Amino acid sequence: MKLSDKMKSKILIAGITLFVGIMIFQTISPENTIPTALADTTDVNPNGSSELSKLMRDMQKYTNDAKLDVKSGKMPAMYPKDFDKIHTAKITEGVSKSDYYKQFADLYVMAVKSYATSTPETRVETYNNMVSSCLACHSQHCPGPVPAIRKMTIVD
Ligand code: HEC
Repeated sequence: MKLSDKMKSKILIAGITLFVGIMIFQTISPENTIPTALADTTDVNPNGSSELSKLMRDMQKYTNDAKLDVKSGKMPAMYPKDFDKIHTAKITEGVSKSDYYKQFADLYVMAVKSYATSTPETRVETYNNMVSSCLACHSQHCPGPVPAIRKMTIVD
């Protein structure tokens, strides 16, 4: 009896500490750094995710699925038409695009199309080009997800 009460209060204290920690973090963070800081793990952005952030997560999923397909010798999934929105999707307020955003976006779209229509011989290469094109753009924008994107590369 005694022990379980003690446990309960410990858990409660841990919970409160975590909650207060998050509150403090959100208070001291300038609005526009929150999405970057938490980009690759959680989605606690109090303003909701931008259209571009959501698209990025679809792109991330497409790439992760593609990696599994490549490894198991499956046909690539078709180019998702929605990815065209990379040019127009609204970015998080306070985050800006570099002058080369459009070029990087074109490169990415081309790389996905090239992977989606690849032959078994060119599949790994076109897949890795696709990952490189994510990294190229991320070298100038939103560095948070870079380590996670790097891990998507297929090394044989
Ligand atoms: C043309 C540039 C560009 C390309 C290509 C690109 N990204 Fe992004 N990415 C961005 C920008 C800019 C943001 C920040 C979006 C925002 O805050 O609105 C972002 C955000 C993200 C995020 C964070 C999303 C979130 O939850 O807030 C992830 C994860 C991500 N990108 C992964 C990828 C992956 C994986 C690829 C390749 C499949 C990729 N990106 C290709 C520019 C790019």
